[in-house]
Amino acid sequence: MPEADNHGDKNFHEQIPPPDQGFFLKGAGSYDWGMKNRLARIFRPTSGRTVMLAIDHGYFQGPTTGLERVDLSILPIAPAADALMITRGMLRSTIPATHGGGVVMRASGGPSVLKDLSNERLAIDLEDAVRMNVDALAVQVFVGGEHETQSVHNMTRLIDAGYRYGIPVLGVTAVGKELVRDARYLGLAARICAELGAQFVKTYYCEQGFERVTAGCPVPVVMAGGKKLPEREALEMAYRAVQQGAAGVDMGRNIFQSRAPEAMLEAIAKVVHGGATPDDAYELFNELAHKATVA
Ligand code: R5P
Repeated sequence: MPEADNHGDKNFHEQIPPPDQGFFLKGAGSYDWGMKNRLARIFRPTSGRTVMLAIDHGYFQGPTTGLERVDLSILPIAPAADALMITRGMLRSTIPATHGGGVVMRASGGPSVLKDLSNERLAIDLEDAVRMNVDALAVQVFVGGEHETQSVHNMTRLIDAGYRYGIPVLGVTAVGKELVRDARYLGLAARICAELGAQFVKTYYCEQGFERVTAGCPVPVVMAGGKKLPEREALEMAYRAVQQGAAGVDMGRNIFQSRAPEAMLEAIAKVVHGGATPDDAYELFNELAHKATVA
């Protein structure tokens, strides 16, 4: 059994791009056509990045603020996102089948916010995912959590099942309250997800060393949003994440709890796809938010 790797002198060669494998996404060169096609419905081939709108919170915390009525708050803004991260219950009950964007389906669950969240199981059958024509499946991995092995096993089973149908899996690194969201932890968790087969990984941003997290992960990393921040700060965080190698963002509360959700979504997209600076994006946000109030 190898000991924990505590060397401080790792070299991620952050300045050297990964090898070009003939497909626009990192690490995806050898996937089958169907999986590549699904990934291209989540990540824009023109920028290689995605803006995912996460609205799956209800699967463990019920009617989250801003998601009380998904039909009223989310449906009007959904077209501005590249993909929705959503549960199957909300997809079927509320999202019209004419929805044109990508669908990343929440595929694990079990405990509510009242219990130990790491005690999840898979919560969907692949046949149902195919029936809904989803573009990817998302599963939480609790590295260092009470049910670490179980959650990793959930992910590897889902990846095996996903390969049967060409459905990619998003490994979501869930950080327990007792753990520190630093580059060392996030790099460990993201790398474990990728090594065990996740085709893309969602993880939090950290102020120090995020570029080492993305460089050390052989598949695309999307930045998780986290708790609501003032809009300018959330835009800054998204900007830094993509500048430091993230292939986009998967944000929920920072969009749907904003005072102007659609404006925030547009401003985030300008950062992610258009390379806008936080200042320019914030200016755009204020402009669009103002127009929305006078309309
Ligand atoms: C995480 O555990 C879930 O995927 C969340 O429901 C969601 O993705 C979190 O989004 P945010 O932190 O940006 O509100």
